[in-house]
Amino acid sequence: MSTRTTVITGIGSLVTNDPGHGTGPLGLLTDAAVVIDGDTVAWVGPAAQAPAADERFDAEGRALLPGFVDSHAHLVFAGDRTAEFNARMSGQAYSAGGIRTTVAATRAASDAELEANLAGFVREALRQGTTTIECKSGYGLTVEDEARALRIAAKHTPETTYLGAHIVAPEYAEDPAGYVDLVTGEMLDACAPHARWVDVFCEKGAFDGDQARAVLTAGIERGLTPRVHANQLTYGPGVQLAVELGAASADHCTHLTDEDVAALAGSATVATLLPGAEFSTRAEYPSGRRLLDAGAVVALSTDCNPGSSFTSSMAFCIAVAVREMGMTPDEAVWAATAGGAHALRRSDVGVITAGARADLLLLDAPSHVHLAYRPGVPLTAAVWREGVREV
Ligand code: NIG
Ligand code: FE
Repeated sequence: MSTRTTVITGIGSLVTNDPGHGTGPLGLLTDAAVVIDGDTVAWVGPAAQAPAADERFDAEGRALLPGFVDSHAHLVFAGDRTAEFNARMSGQAYSAGGIRTTVAATRAASDAELEANLAGFVREALRQGTTTIECKSGYGLTVEDEARALRIAAKHTPETTYLGAHIVAPEYAEDPAGYVDLVTGEMLDACAPHARWVDVFCEKGAFDGDQARAVLTAGIERGLTPRVHANQLTYGPGVQLAVELGAASADHCTHLTDEDVAALAGSATVATLLPGAEFSTRAEYPSGRRLLDAGAVVALSTDCNPGSSFTSSMAFCIAVAVREMGMTPDEAVWAATAGGAHALRRSDVGVITAGARADLLLLDAPSHVHLAYRPGVPLTAAVWREGVREV
């Protein structure tokens, strides 16, 4: 049975992220066309050579790029933390403890409420060009609440992450070792069937290096692949642990020693930077430049959560990375697309090449550079996810 084909023609500037297709790491092509066959990209090349298709879409000279790959988000929660943000912007410091507020609200919410919230955020992200989104548990912190978070998340994305080790559950405040036993035992058993990844918040006030190692190792033994909240608020062992255990990514990477940077550069672990968190906690940004110059692979993600970074906008992250983190517009756009795909070990997204998933973002702009050049401006003209026009 043949599927319907669509040719998108008149693409003024096409980001393929395949250097074989065009110039630079973005594999840029001008005056290009893309053919979609069902849910897949079937052909990429100069508009003048485009094959015929069932349907034709004229991009009218605008820029087309792969849909954003947001490889770090916390979307299963209830309530918000407006008051905490407001206090912070009036001078209070951010600490890991604020997570408890969201844990209480999340536990009190029904499955339907949590799913409606999650679906709303996935849609909100999609409207802004995000076609792949990772989603963590971590606001339940009981066996049942963590398992239901992942069950709900798995209905909306295959990229689900078990983050039972977000903070020590309030019931275990006096017995953190007992909580680590729960996270590596009964809770892992309940969560592993619904998760692809295992994560831990390795930080002062959350889990130390030994506890983080125990959590990640237990997850690995259950077939999950590690990713780590590492070196966000302070220097610490998170990045080294991530590299040692072969984690797909070390996320945040805000406080890095030269040894941490070298470890990332010499490994397959992606450094995932989350500028929304520094923005919303009024903290120093990590240096994308330092990591890139050392040879590390860098991804950009939103960290969308109600506490430290309540944004679903990858365009915002790109703009901040360019303005504040020493990244060029090309590097930031790569990091938000192909970089996120690397962080999720996916080769079918984050690129526009024959055989890739037809996840495409058409901008209301002639160039991907406008994502940084026109900060805060809604530039989404159209979005295809798995070949379906969604926006
Ligand atoms: O990635 N760092 C740990 N977890 C989240 C914050 C969660 C919250 O404050 O609710 C983060 O920034
Ligand atoms: Fe996070």
